[in-house]
Amino acid sequence: MTTTLLDGIGLLVTNDPALGDGSPLGEISGAALVADSGGRVLWAGPAPAAPSADTRVDLGGRCVVPGFVDSHAHLVFAGDRSAEFAARMSGQPYAAGGIRTTVAATRAAPDELLAANLARLVAEMRRQGTTTVEIKSGYGLTVADEARALALAGQHTDETTYLGAHVVPAEYAGDPAGYVDLVTGAMLDACAPHARWIDVFCETGAFDADAARAVLTAGIDRGLGARVHANQLGHGPGVQLACELGAASADHCTFLDDADVAALAASGTVATLLPGVEFSTRSPYPDARTLLSAGVTVALATDCNPGSCYTSSIPFCIALAVREMHLTPAEALWAATAGGAAALRRTDVGRLSPGARADLVVLDAPSYVHLAYRPGVPLVAGTWTGGRPSS
Ligand code: NIG
Ligand code: FE
Repeated sequence: MTTTLLDGIGLLVTNDPALGDGSPLGEISGAALVADSGGRVLWAGPAPAAPSADTRVDLGGRCVVPGFVDSHAHLVFAGDRSAEFAARMSGQPYAAGGIRTTVAATRAAPDELLAANLARLVAEMRRQGTTTVEIKSGYGLTVADEARALALAGQHTDETTYLGAHVVPAEYAGDPAGYVDLVTGAMLDACAPHARWIDVFCETGAFDADAARAVLTAGIDRGLGARVHANQLGHGPGVQLACELGAASADHCTFLDDADVAALAASGTVATLLPGVEFSTRSPYPDARTLLSAGVTVALATDCNPGSCYTSSIPFCIALAVREMHLTPAEALWAATAGGAAALRRTDVGRLSPGARADLVVLDAPSYVHLAYRPGVPLVAGTWTGGRPSS
């Protein structure tokens, strides 16, 4: 086993309160970190106390934070909906029906095109500091197209999510119950071997509570973990359902009432906020402070997709969460790292303490506060995964 010492870290965020200044971010000024060739953090602490290592890299006083964990993304698709975005910016509302436009383009795309689009987006994310990404299906909506999407996603991540229940495709418009039977039957059979999670868009115009429950229950019975697109376009039953079924995460949470906040606080379900969606659909931002005050675990993710939010940038989402959702820069960074890990029920990422994966972001800045303070500026100087530079 060889070791690498990352030295000259001006400010290290470990997300381990025991390691640093006692804050949730576990910050250490003037820090160093040792990674082993197995890809794990061996040691993190004040630079003068660093053990020797086989190789040494000087980071010149830069800030190092855990790699971003983007726990919600739809990256397997073809086509472009920029005209829909432009129409929205001229006053049109967002409608879930736009998903069918992408479904048509995705079904028509050859494997090579989908694979190339996906690889481009994953690389784009990596350059912006994302080291763990969840990738959903949901733009195929046939047995073969959903299985294809998940097989492609599995080439980039273990965090693959079966979202056959994204919308009812046009050919089942007259038989939505028949589509739920397909999603919970033959499509689940084909997709479960490629997926870790099952997701459903529980919303008016997509799947109601009964259909969403049937979908999630079928997936859970097959050994998949549950996550839910919940309360995005209006108040609905998604959050309560997610909590009741023990979902890892309820995502969007744009429209919540007190009972939803209480259910999230009482359950182990993470509230994953997607501020890029509110930005790109001109929707109201959810009240993140109420969630945090109630003790809910909050994650931040991009929801990168061609319809409701086509950003791959966690730094942009951090800046939005700070400016528009009133998270502090520290809370936003935690939500995009440890919060994302919690939403994926992972303990090996989202932190930089011994035993964790050595996945980290080197910022061209003295502090992570710059992620929100300097919005739109490419501050990611480099990304390391498993103890090695990866961008
Ligand atoms: O998470 N809400 C459902 N699905 C996506 C949007 C997909 C689309 O518009 O293409 C979302 O926002
Ligand atoms: Fe989504």
